[in-house]
Amino acid sequence: MQTILSGIKPTGEHVHLGNYFGAMKQYVDLQQRDNCERFYFIANYHALTTMRSRADLEQNSWNILREYLAAGIDTDKSNIFIQSDIPEHTELAWILNCLTPLGLLERAHAYKDAIAKGKEANVGLFDYPVLMAADILMYQSHYVPVGKDQKQHIEIARDLAEKFNHYYGETFVLPEPLILADVESVPGIDGEKMSKSYNNTITPFTDAKTMEKRIMSIKTDSLGIDAPKDVDSSIIIQLLRLVADQDTINHVEAKFRSGGMGYGEAKKILSSKVQDYFAPMQKRYAEITDEELKVAVKKGAEKARSVAQKTIAMVRQRTGLISSY
Ligand code: ADP
Ligand code: TRP
Repeated sequence: MQTILSGIKPTGEHVHLGNYFGAMKQYVDLQQRDNCERFYFIANYHALTTMRSRADLEQNSWNILREYLAAGIDTDKSNIFIQSDIPEHTELAWILNCLTPLGLLERAHAYKDAIAKGKEANVGLFDYPVLMAADILMYQSHYVPVGKDQKQHIEIARDLAEKFNHYYGETFVLPEPLILADVESVPGIDGEKMSKSYNNTITPFTDAKTMEKRIMSIKTDSLGIDAPKDVDSSIIIQLLRLVADQDTINHVEAKFRSGGMGYGEAKKILSSKVQDYFAPMQKRYAEITDEELKVAVKKGAEKARSVAQKTIAMVRQRTGLISSY
């Protein structure tokens, strides 16, 4: 039996195309593997490193859980849960903290980027990768489906698992990332990596108008309709390749190469293909009742808790943390 685990931070109101194609779609597709236990969660402790609004944190968390189900996560095959329902994650993070050299975290991208941008980093942000290692190791995860930006974090989790195993005996599985080469970094409307933090997202579970407006504002050069255009550097084409059928992709690419299609027309085609792709998921999103969602998350948390409690009991015993009961 192998374990697959991943999570998304509820730092945005909805998931974006990068989250969907980099991570969530893999979660759904991996449900076809036999002999696997799957855990997909909402990383709300992680979100606290940057969020201060209680209302937003609550609302975003429910939205993204709903998006998990709408995207096709089947609770008979996968466990979905809320990270803070399993407080054992923070206990394991503390124990791993005590094995983590400062230098390892000083080299971590998220922290380095925050400092480079002159942001005031808190201790939680600095320690973010250790909590993530705890999330992963807690469930003895073999595989962690993510986008490329998370690769370093999984290497840190591996390092910490090796350290723990070295000091206290074989305890943790060494996790491996699952990164899809063709969608390892989905571009945002400005051409940078699509990310909630860069305000460059397209969010498929929002209304059609908002989404179309975002797509129409994708950055392009100023070449006119008749001018031949570069295909590979075009954000429109990169996104179209994710959502459209091969005939449409070939048609737009050919028109770009020969000249004869303006960026406005290409964006309209992209917009309608994004709509078509997500229409069944949007329909399901609107149909999921609060009750259905709560039942699903409770069931997932029960399963997650049973595994987490076993792991923590073993870790306490192996590290020499005694108990009076
Ligand atoms: P964000 O960068 O918007 O804050 P998260 O860090 O919550 O997104 O990412 C959740 C998952 O989505 C992670 O597995 C991450 O690697 C993946 N992901 C995020 N943005 C992209 C992207 N632009 N391309 C591919 N995968 C992405
Ligand atoms: N750090 C991940 C992100 O920003 C979210 C996350 C938290 C995660 N814990 C995890 C992803 C464990 C995979 C496994 O996207």
